[in-house]
Amino acid sequence: MKHFRIAAIPGDGIGKEVIAAGIEALEALAKREGFGVSFDHFDWGSDYYKANGVMMPENGREQIKDHDAIFFGAVGAPDVPDHVTLWGLRLAICQPFDQYANVRPTRVLPGITSPLRNVSGPELDWVIVRENSEGEYAGVGGRVHRGLPEEVATDVSIMTRAGVARVIRFAFELARSRPRKKLTVVTKSNAQRHAMVMWDEIAAEVAAGFPDVEWDKMLVDAMTMRMTMRPETLDTIVATNLHADILSDLAAALAGSLGIAPTANLNPERRFPSMFEPIHGSAFDITGKGIANPVGTFWTASMMMEHLGEKSAADRLMRAVERVTADPSLHTPDLGGTATTREVTDAVIAAIEGDNS
Ligand code: NAI
Ligand code: MG
Repeated sequence: MKHFRIAAIPGDGIGKEVIAAGIEALEALAKREGFGVSFDHFDWGSDYYKANGVMMPENGREQIKDHDAIFFGAVGAPDVPDHVTLWGLRLAICQPFDQYANVRPTRVLPGITSPLRNVSGPELDWVIVRENSEGEYAGVGGRVHRGLPEEVATDVSIMTRAGVARVIRFAFELARSRPRKKLTVVTKSNAQRHAMVMWDEIAAEVAAGFPDVEWDKMLVDAMTMRMTMRPETLDTIVATNLHADILSDLAAALAGSLGIAPTANLNPERRFPSMFEPIHGSAFDITGKGIANPVGTFWTASMMMEHLGEKSAADRLMRAVERVTADPSLHTPDLGGTATTREVTDAVIAAIEGDNS
């Protein structure tokens, strides 16, 4: 029997609640599909930071580098600066493990209403590919003359030909694997005339190897309008670290809620484990109330099973999720309902177990 070892890092806030729910669903799924799965739990995050002065131990990556995948909740606490939590944990895993392709599917699940009045469901079905290793979040820069009137601060965006080419190639491959075979490359090459122009040039070069994929270019500001006004014209989207970060929150909102959106941080060459997480943060405003929407985490778990080669399990989990979202009595408050994390999780597990297709 196949067996997967998963490193679970719930992190902070509702990260703990949704990862617990995701683990229950994955255990039920493994039993139903006939594979083994075990979880090693790592208590890294803001509480760990308050006790130890670091978000994760120095040999943290060493401890998880041989796992089949990483199942991550969220980081962020009201009393720890966000750049400390983000850089200390999430980016401290993504960048050294070279998880350069951040894949964010968005669609309107059954029973969920898009805030766009012209979207009933099928008109919005996208995958955003976010460059996840460099660009605006490369971490290069500094501050001098702190606190003085002449203080200077820089965040230098780093774009390399190798880094841009590999993520654009990944996006073309992904676009080719989807029915519509359509890719939109997003930049800001009118205002940023160096790196963004290089993106456009590399996109054109890579495109030559994918004659079966229809592709076009958009400036990021105009892209927000197109996503809102003509969502049906988009399919696969590739953009820089910062642009895709923003566009994917917009995408999640247009699909109904941040609480349902999943993401995979992939190292496509599989030299390192990939990391799977819901896109939302630690949501202090609802932590401990038992009402966090676990759907984003279930969808994330489905992406993890697909990455691990368990397509049938991935599909079964998504069918279970869709059965549950289709029933408004199983919607959590972010979707306008009154269901709890517990009730949604129980319903998804029942749907996993009862699905005989
Ligand atoms: P957030 O995603 O935590 O919350 C935004 C809003 O959406 C809140 O009103 C929250 O209650 C709601 N929400 C989010 N996920 C939900 C879910 N599963 N079910 C129901 N409602 C949900 O973003 P925010 O408030 O900007 O950040 C809070 C903390 O999380 C900050 O410290 C931030 O740095 C961190 N963060 C961490 C991320 C990560 O670890 N990948 C991503 C985004 C934020
Ligand atoms: Mg974000």
